[in-house]
Amino acid sequence: MAELAEIGVIGGSGFYSLLEDAEEVAVDTPYGPPSDRITLGRIGGRSVAFLPRHGRGHVHPPHRIPYRANIWALHSLGVRQVLAPNAVGSLRTEYGPGTLVIPDQLVDRTSGRIQTFYDTGGAVHVPFADPYCPHGRATAVRVAREAGWETVDGGTMVVIEGPRFSTRAESQWYASAGWTVIGMTGHPEAVLARELAICYTSICLVTDRDAGIEAGQGVTQQEVLAFFRAHAGRLRALTKEIAAALPAERTCPCATALDGMKLP
Ligand code: ADE
Repeated sequence: MAELAEIGVIGGSGFYSLLEDAEEVAVDTPYGPPSDRITLGRIGGRSVAFLPRHGRGHVHPPHRIPYRANIWALHSLGVRQVLAPNAVGSLRTEYGPGTLVIPDQLVDRTSGRIQTFYDTGGAVHVPFADPYCPHGRATAVRVAREAGWETVDGGTMVVIEGPRFSTRAESQWYASAGWTVIGMTGHPEAVLARELAICYTSICLVTDRDAGIEAGQGVTQQEVLAFFRAHAGRLRALTKEIAAALPAERTCPCATALDGMKLP
């Protein structure tokens, strides 16, 4: 397919649209259809593809999102840099709802999700010590701070299988390990992007304090969605500003992640 978009945005819960005057395309992949139709448009002179991770109407729960199809579909449209805004819980009392965290590390606590494109025809082991694009992260932090967001530069996102929230003991365990935020969809999205040498930047909006660091009944879906919806407009505007500011030339290690590999 022709290069229709250089930047991809994968919107999380409550983030179902991004582009005005956009064209919608249905893309198919060897892994089936992605979560929804993809919209193509422009932001600040850059060509952008938008895909709602859960589908419009939130039809795909976190453990059933077609992660491979989503990343493959964006790549097939020409996307080489992905921004991934998503809702997370905080594992630190000092980072309350409304804080933006641009993580630099990830811990996988999911189970059973297929996390590779390279599962037949030979082994391919991509480097993943630093799961996020350093240039995408730096851009996101700078633009968010300039826009007045309380922004944390770095931190570890633990990704749980879901769809349930964590028990208090699990949450206390993650917090005691020193991890920063918790979500359900950050994995395997980031590693699949790396496997296609796509830059991937996670933009985490804290919607709640997770059960281990806050007394009370624990996190609820209503609380998360209500908070995210209330801030979706602001997050959408910020995501557009970050997309417009992403480097035009890629000189980061993500771009060469597959160099020297013997691909199947
Ligand atoms: N997404 C938003 N808040 C969350 C939490 N506390 N745990 C897991 N995923 C979340």
